[in-house]
Amino acid sequence: MTQRPIACVILAAGKGTRMKSALPKVLHPLGGKPMVGHVLDAAAALDPDRIIVVVGPGMDSVAKAVAPHSTVVQQRQAGTGDALAAALPLLDGFAGDVLVLYGDTPLIRPETLRAMIAARRGGGDPAVVVMGMRPADPGSYGRLLLGSDGGLERIVEFLDASPQERAVGLCNAGFMAFDGARLPALIAGIGNDNAKGEYYLTDAVAVARGRGWRCAVVEGPVEDALGVNSRVELAGLETIFQGRMRRAAMENGATLLDPDTVYFSADTRLGRDVLVGQNVVFGPGVRVEDGAEIKPFCHFEGVVVKAGAQIGPYARLRPGTVVGEGCHIGNFVELKNTNLGAGAKANHLSYLGDSDVGGGSNIGAGTITCNYDGFLKHRTRIGGGVFVGSNSTLIAPVTLEDGAYVAAATVVSKTVPADSLAIARVPQENRIGTAARLRERKRAEKAAKATKG
Ligand code: UD1
Ligand code: MG
Repeated sequence: MTQRPIACVILAAGKGTRMKSALPKVLHPLGGKPMVGHVLDAAAALDPDRIIVVVGPGMDSVAKAVAPHSTVVQQRQAGTGDALAAALPLLDGFAGDVLVLYGDTPLIRPETLRAMIAARRGGGDPAVVVMGMRPADPGSYGRLLLGSDGGLERIVEFLDASPQERAVGLCNAGFMAFDGARLPALIAGIGNDNAKGEYYLTDAVAVARGRGWRCAVVEGPVEDALGVNSRVELAGLETIFQGRMRRAAMENGATLLDPDTVYFSADTRLGRDVLVGQNVVFGPGVRVEDGAEIKPFCHFEGVVVKAGAQIGPYARLRPGTVVGEGCHIGNFVELKNTNLGAGAKANHLSYLGDSDVGGGSNIGAGTITCNYDGFLKHRTRIGGGVFVGSNSTLIAPVTLEDGAYVAAATVVSKTVPADSLAIARVPQENRIGTAARLRERKRAEKAAKATKG
């Protein structure tokens, strides 16, 4: 038996004027990832045959962000029914289930969508399945009106609802699943005789009932249906999203010492027995493997931390960095585009950029790679078992071969051969007794000044 296909249509033509932004609303990030990307992920989890995104004119950046999925342009924003109508040419002859989502409702979870698909395919063969919810304050959501048999009869938009209808607590969450074969007929039957003069997709329910087709409601969590119209609402969703990420990390075996102070990106991955201290930020593209310890006040972007490594407190790890197994990265160390082999250490006050550090090497306090000459970036190659003394300056491009030993405060500007010592600093000179004489003279000068007043 072949699986019945699913098509997902994401409505994202809304301009989002209340965001007061040059960026289309659905590209505003949640957990560092555009809202529409979260919706795409939820849709993709159902393994759909196709995903179609409905955008407004000039929203090329959205089309680019959702590629390779297809986009269609809804020319005028004439309502959610009109938006789905714009996608119909890409659904021509599609006889599976069509799921409609919103680009500005990023907390939707695949399990909620699966329940809707299951209901669509279940008893009674409903033409339309609507996600319902019961928010504490039903506000201006559309209301779901049920028949005596418990089936869905009609959706009434808040603006068009009577006081009795407004008193209904069961609201339209927005997500809908349609029988693809009957969808064109439903869309064709939608008019715009209502308070907003728009083509409401919600009217598809009344159109279906008029034809004698059943419609059903699947109730789901309000959280899944929360939408974003302003930056304040976006911040509220971010809080919920962070809560989900924190819970998932802990359920997967990581310890967060103060969960509310650890910030995740949508793609952050923490292994088992990872210990994360207070006030840590994971930007996009971070993976921390089993048993690693992240001490307080660290910031990560584009980094892999391998098993058993210890990072921080106060470390900044930037894109392109791989910290090998069991490495130690200490306070005020910045790493960028740098690979550290297993067991390497940089414990204090260093900048390692565009560099490779071999296993077991020790980078002393204050070591700086001079990776940028004002025009180009250059690599510093440090072999295995190398010792770099404190306050050394490594002028890239430069190589420190295996087992090299760099004396403290050396400026390294050429290759240090294997197992060799490099020292480049002004030799020390001791002037015996000079400090005592200097102090005596300075004290006398100060005393003379004091007596003069
Ligand atoms: C819609 C529902 C309402 C439901 C609520 C849940 C309708 C008529 N009403 O109302 O019953 O309670 O969602 O949040 O559907 N869009 C387009 N093109 C358009 C209009 C909208 O792409 O011409 C997109 C928007 O970008 C948005 C989504 O469709 O992502 C929903 O539109 P919105 O205007 O937010 O609908 P609501 O008034 O909230
Ligand atoms: Mg809305």
